[in-house]
Amino acid sequence: MLRAPREELADDARQGLISTPKHLPPKHLYDARGSELFEVITQLPEYPVTRAETAILEDAADAIVAAAQPDELLELGSGSSRKTRLLLEAMHRQGTGDRYAPLDVSVAAVEQAAAELAVDHPWLEVRGAIGDFSRDLGKVPRDGRRLVAFLGSTIGNLLPPARAELLTAIADSMAPEDRFLLGVDLVKPRDVLEAAYDDAAGVTAAFTTNLLVILNRELAGDLPVDAFVHRARWDAEAEHVELTLEATREVHARLERLDLDVHFAAGEHLLVEHSCKFRVPGIRAELAAAGLEVEQVHGGDTHGFALLLARRTGGADR
Ligand SMILES: C[S@@+](CC[C@H](N)C(=O)[O-])C[C@H]1O[C@@H](n2cnc3c(N)ncnc32)[C@H](O)[C@@H]1O
Repeated sequence: MLRAPREELADDARQGLISTPKHLPPKHLYDARGSELFEVITQLPEYPVTRAETAILEDAADAIVAAAQPDELLELGSGSSRKTRLLLEAMHRQGTGDRYAPLDVSVAAVEQAAAELAVDHPWLEVRGAIGDFSRDLGKVPRDGRRLVAFLGSTIGNLLPPARAELLTAIADSMAPEDRFLLGVDLVKPRDVLEAAYDDAAGVTAAFTTNLLVILNRELAGDLPVDAFVHRARWDAEAEHVELTLEATREVHARLERLDLDVHFAAGEHLLVEHSCKFRVPGIRAELAAAGLEVEQVHGGDTHGFALLLARRTGGADR
């Protein structure tokens, strides 16, 4: 483990719960329960992201692996690693390599994914790492030619400045023969996007509300979970969905471990996640600005999702 999650949550809560607007980074949503709820979200009828990306990978995994020829696959924010199997199986079939390094903040997700992979992919060598992809990328030991995968449109949790920083760090971590595979969810109509993040069964609401349970457990807090409701709002100008927890009444709470009093006015929001949506030319330009040149694009507007395979651009462009 590269850094204790509770220490990070404490630092972020100390800062984010006294700011205006109040905010916490989305990585804190993923304790064992959060990772479990996210897996349920991926199967909801309103949430098209995982189905679209899986369908694209079913068609494109062989072409991606043939171009990348990876000895190993490093995956950022790997979660359950379910879709990743399509890439790992293509690597095995083509005989390029059988090493997989999932990197995720969620201990439970990495442990469970590794255990499941060991059962039905006995040829695979899994070297899981717990850490933050925005900070710990350089700490994962490399072993040969790499395919770095960043799936599930998790990159959309980062706003443009943080995204540019991460894409540049990814490019800088790559050898010239390495490849980067990025999955991005594309802009869609407001009703589709807002339903995707506020499903009828209330699973996404349970996922974001679980953050209050995490704060109470980890920081000895007494935030009243029933005083907050889940909100998902598409900002058409910024092209992102904002997920917040809105206080339905005035809240006075305390996080004992931080010696911190927290106040919410009625109607005040705690921002827990941005989910930026993309257009293929825009993300191509962001990759280029980070020193990454796109070689293959799979999916697109008909899928509502795109997978881009990129390589580092040469020295003169960087
Ligand atoms: C939206 S889910 C996607 C999971 C999986 N890649 C997929 O496509 O279904 C985001 C994943 O990234 C992890 N994650 C979120 N922020 C992270 C961070 N800063 N560093 C490492 N992992 C992170 C979460 O624990 C979760 O497993």
